[in-house]
This record gives sequence, C-alpha cells and structure tokens, in this order.
Amino acid sequence: MANYDTITVEKRGRVAVLTINRPDKLNALNKQVHAEGVAALDELRGDDSVKVLIITGAGERSFIAGADISEFEGQTPVTQRDLFHEKTFFNSIDAFPKPVIAMVNGFCLGGGNELAMACDLRICSGKARFAQPEINLGIMCGGGGTQRLTRLVGEGRSMEMVLTGDMIDAETAHRFGLVNHVYQAAELEAKTMELAEKIAEKAPIALQLSKEAVKFASRSNLDEGLRREVDLFAICFSTEDKKEGVAAFLEKRKPVFKGR
Ligand code: COA
Repeated sequence: MANYDTITVEKRGRVAVLTINRPDKLNALNKQVHAEGVAALDELRGDDSVKVLIITGAGERSFIAGADISEFEGQTPVTQRDLFHEKTFFNSIDAFPKPVIAMVNGFCLGGGNELAMACDLRICSGKARFAQPEINLGIMCGGGGTQRLTRLVGEGRSMEMVLTGDMIDAETAHRFGLVNHVYQAAELEAKTMELAEKIAEKAPIALQLSKEAVKFASRSNLDEGLRREVDLFAICFSTEDKKEGVAAFLEKRKPVFKGR
C-alpha cells in the first residue's frame, strides 16, 4: 500500500482496516482525506487478499465529525459542487465491490454519518452519537445524507434529524435501523472483527453480487429488482465456488472458496 498522511490502512489477514487519522480534528473529512480515501480504495479493490474492509476513526472520541468546516470558507457554489460531483470517498465506498463495515467509535456527524451510510453495515459503541448537523451551519447535507438516511430510517425520522440537526444516541440509532449492532466500547473492535471474519469466509463473487442486488433494491422498482436479482443469481452458477459450496454441503464438510 502507498503511504498516506490522513488515513492508515492495516491488513489483518483477510480484513483491511482503513482508519481516518486526524484525531485532533475529530477525524473531520478534508479534501486530502477524500483523495487519499479514494486512492486507498482503488488499491484495495484490486487486492485479492482483502475480502472485507472496515472503516473507522482514530482516537477515543470520534468516528468522523463531518466535513472539515474550515474548508467551506472560500468555496463557491461551483467549486463545492465540483468537489462533490468528483469521485468522492462516499461514492468510492458505495461502488466498492467488497463488503464494507463502518466501525463507529464516537461522533458520527454530517459527512461522517454520510460516509457510514455509504458502507454496507454499521457497528457502533454505546458512546457513539449520530447527527446531520449541517442545518446548524445554514447549509444542508451534500454527501448523500437526505437520500441514504431516508432510505435507512424512513422519512419521518430522517426529516427530524435533517431539520433539527440534533444528535441521537447509539440506542436510538439502533432502534431506527441506522446501525446494525451496538457494543460496549471495549468490545467494539473484537465484535466488528468477528463479523468481518465471518463474512470474509464466504464466496467472494457471491458476496459481490449479493451486495449489488441489495443496493439495487433501493434504486429500482420491484420488477426491475427481481429481474436483476435472478440475473445475478444465474451468474453465481458459472463459478467454481458454487460447485464447491454445493459439493461441500453434500459431502458434509466446510467449503473452501477461492473467489473463482
Ligand atoms: N471540521 C473542522 N474541524 C472540526 C470539526 C469539523 N467538522 N469538528 C471538530 N473539529 C475540530 C475543532 O475545531 C477542534 O479543533 P481545535 O482544537 O483546533 O480548535 C477539534 O476538532 C476538537 O473539537 P471541539 O469542538 O473542541 O470538541 P468538543 O468536544 O467541544 O465538541 C463536537 C465536539 C463534535 C460537538 C464539535 O466539534 C462539533 O460540533 N463539530 C462540528 C460538527 C459538525 O457540524 N459537522 C458537520 C459539518 S457539515
């Protein structure tokens, strides 16, 4: 992996952990984080040894406290729009072919919550706090907040978060369906790794196609979605891993998937 200044990437067997590393700024997303995040995902995408990616924030206090507000100064509508129309970190995560888990260890605000929602699964500690506080700055969400939050939690809850900017705690986020699991801070990492390892054992092509199909569900109507699902299902029948999975079941043994 290349060396980065604002992020770190560590490989732990089949799981890679990408950490936003600006703890003194509560891991706020500046332009460099976006650029380095996109570059790291491009590297990890082609690395066959990595099956699952975890994204987290450095330090004890924050996952990501949002966009770096200091960079809003001097932005014009055109430069800000260009920035978010370019290949953003959010979009690179959304398009990443392998499962991505957000491990939320503290503040998950604004662009931080948008980034977590671009991931496939969100696991948090009991001290995590979630908000879309853009409204308090006289602006609104621009990294997918109004769209992904509404799909995840429903219009009423999304509307309240977006219009008030108020923080919700981990239990509320869990009840809303914004996060999959809440753990005590001390066990967050172990529990997240356990989940990542469990997913990393599955057949990589089937994981990729399943992810594509689930994501398509909120981007299509039911008939289109059902058609896409059956096409992707059929593609699984061309893989060696399908033969291995079926044979292993019939032979009463654990399958060994190869990603082919
Ligand atoms: N952009 C830039 N810097 C940020 C930041 C952000 N989104 N969030 C926090 N920081 C910086 C602070 O400026 C401070 O830097 P400094 O020590 O150089 O002054 C440092 O991170 C620590 O934050 P601080 O505000 O002192 O911590 P706190 O515990 O008092 O408050 C928050 C924590 C999260 C409540 C507060 O930092 C906050 O409201 N941040 C902005 C959240 C936000 O609106 N995000 C959406 C942006 S669109």
